[in-house]
Amino acid sequence: MNSTTKKLLFIANWKSHKTSSETHHFLKELQASLSQINTKNKDILICSSYTSLESCKRYIREFSLPFFVGAQDVSEFGEGPYTGEVSGVQIREFADYVIIGHSERKRYLHETDEQIQKKIKQALTADLKVILCVQDENSQVFQGVSYVAYEPPSAISTFGVGKPDDPEHVSKVLQALAQKTDVPLLYGGSVDETTIQGYLNVDSVRGFLVGGASLKPQSFISLLSSC
Ligand code: PGA
Repeated sequence: MNSTTKKLLFIANWKSHKTSSETHHFLKELQASLSQINTKNKDILICSSYTSLESCKRYIREFSLPFFVGAQDVSEFGEGPYTGEVSGVQIREFADYVIIGHSERKRYLHETDEQIQKKIKQALTADLKVILCVQDENSQVFQGVSYVAYEPPSAISTFGVGKPDDPEHVSKVLQALAQKTDVPLLYGGSVDETTIQGYLNVDSVRGFLVGGASLKPQSFISLLSSC
């Protein structure tokens, strides 16, 4: 399939950024610039912190934006006495998607494959679509997920510094991952308006996880309007 005809998924991964009022401001800016973005060839998913999920859903509706809402994690437990945890059912009230297995959670919170499997189970029970992050071609790809995002840790959070993975290498890793799963494959790691061009030519790329370049309305708009 040619890059101009395939529909791509763009995921804004806001990480621990944005209050609800900043969410309102961001989405209002996106509404004002929506005419610059071709929304026919892409799906746009905003993954906010739990605290902004409600405002994300509200303002997306209020501003008639053709966007989806997602969370960045889910509890490995269901509803119950798990202080501080947020269950799949609680997320489902506001969101359709959830990111699971991001390398920052492995790095800072020591999340294990066993926990990731439990989280996938909880997400599916709550009828959430799962975006599973994997770090390389040897990572385990669990069943039941809707997307698999290849995100090499060395390429993450280098927005502005420029250490994205080489598109040829991305292509090789995605080919290896395609042997393990039939779901659409995404790339994430320092994707912005300039670096994206190389990945658009990688046939198996079906979308992008975008961190740094999704934080400012203008950089996200530039990225979305560049393809
Ligand atoms: P980055 O983050 O675009 O800032 O590298 C991507 C991610 O961690 O999902």
